[in-house]
Amino acid sequence: MQLGIQRGDLAAIQTPCLLLGLFTGRDLSPAAAAVDQASGGAIARLIGRGDLDGPTGTCLLAYDLPGVAAERVLLLSCGVRAEFNRAALVKALTAALTRLGEARIEHALAALPALPTGLDQYQTARQALLLAAQSAYRYTQTKEPAKEVPPPLAGFQLWAEDDAAAAVLTRAAEHAQAIAAGLNLARNLGNLPGNLCTPTYLAEQALALGERYAHLTVEVLDEAAMAELGMGALLSVSRGSREPAKLIVLQHRGGEAAEKPLVLVGKGLTFDAGGISIKPAADMDEMKYDMAGGAAVLGAMHALGALDLPLNVIGVVPASENLPDGAANKPGDIVRSMSGQTIEILNTDAEGRLILCDALTYCERFEPALVVDMATLTGACVVALGRHASGLFTADDELATELLAAGEAAGDRLWRMPLWDDYRQQLDSNFADLANVGGREAGAVTAAVFLSRFAKAYRWAHLDIAGTAWLSGKEKGGTGRPVPMLVEFLLRQAGQAG
Ligand code: BES
Ligand code: MN
Ligand code: ZN
Repeated sequence: MQLGIQRGDLAAIQTPCLLLGLFTGRDLSPAAAAVDQASGGAIARLIGRGDLDGPTGTCLLAYDLPGVAAERVLLLSCGVRAEFNRAALVKALTAALTRLGEARIEHALAALPALPTGLDQYQTARQALLLAAQSAYRYTQTKEPAKEVPPPLAGFQLWAEDDAAAAVLTRAAEHAQAIAAGLNLARNLGNLPGNLCTPTYLAEQALALGERYAHLTVEVLDEAAMAELGMGALLSVSRGSREPAKLIVLQHRGGEAAEKPLVLVGKGLTFDAGGISIKPAADMDEMKYDMAGGAAVLGAMHALGALDLPLNVIGVVPASENLPDGAANKPGDIVRSMSGQTIEILNTDAEGRLILCDALTYCERFEPALVVDMATLTGACVVALGRHASGLFTADDELATELLAAGEAAGDRLWRMPLWDDYRQQLDSNFADLANVGGREAGAVTAAVFLSRFAKAYRWAHLDIAGTAWLSGKEKGGTGRPVPMLVEFLLRQAGQAG
């Protein structure tokens, strides 16, 4: 899908569809007013009949307007001007993109109305372009799209009124294109089932990315290498599975050689049955998404490669399955992590922290500037925050501020949760340095506190994406989150944010 910009006289531009936003009360944007004038007031007359007086997202598709070169004009109500914000933009544009699909229109040029409250021109454009790109996502790896499913949008352009706007929108289009590529990769990996998306498959996808970008090198550690490093926690999880675990390490070297790297760590649990503490059958299929953290790391590295940002960034993805088996962890088993700390496994379903803790210790060798891990770690986080915000846990206020701001700007929000010492005693064990679960209370917090015990050597933040990385029900599927937030964060680190 091609994103881009267009300059020139809107009424004279040839396009299969010109998308014009306007506000309730027959309030035309300057762009819409100019096209209206070129058409001899045809647009004002159409609106005058009241078809666009409905809620935000109401559309009217008009054909063969006099004086307008576009084959069609899609008029889109963006609601009340004073209430135009990111949510209204998303709602309106989503409706317009659906309408384009219904009409099987594959190319469109959009002139959006005034800026939404709280967003600048760059953010507005990037959000709009990203929505258009995302509307073209189709899962095709194990299913042909049905005939009645509209063809995906092939091209979407934004109209730039002058040189200054063209420069901003061009940048937004480049960034949106890279974020979309990262999102699509993360969504595809998430949607692919556990029998196909194994730790080995994830490693192959990472190696393929490494082939693609000159600044990206990829290394995959096998179980023997992990045993050599003493990764007893990670290996205890994969022992119950016939698929060998992998530790995938991706290095993007775009910055100065001496610059300390930013490290992204993602949980790559390709199927989580719970192990001996087996999960109930209902919805267990959704545990194929338990590698969404790892998929987001791959997605972010993909975007980073596409933008070729001048940063040193390392991605680390511990990948394994968690299944019941004669060799699997049993409740009460005690393992020794790479850090030397022993762990009593009271619940084998709390496996994410077991594979992540060794990955976090492994990160020490990079002397990182900071480490951000992301994981579909706890059902408790879904209960706490639902699907709107990922949980953010860090003791570093400055890092929290930066990550929260990146999430806000990218429309991929985080919400900070506590990480206080008060919760620590919930992980006390009579038989090991710590237990892998901390009881019913504050499950998302105790999981983060567990990880914090392995992340003492550097600045660190943890994201619990269990609620945000996929949707259930009719819309079941991976979302690709938090790729947009990560790319925004990296753009800011590189001083290239909008
Ligand atoms: N992958 C799950 C977390 C999860 C649950 C993500 C539901 C999305 C939806 C994780 O490995 C897990 O099983 N966590 C347990 C922890 C518990 C045993 C302390 C959980 O949340 O129930
Ligand atoms: Mn689990
Ligand atoms: Zn899990």
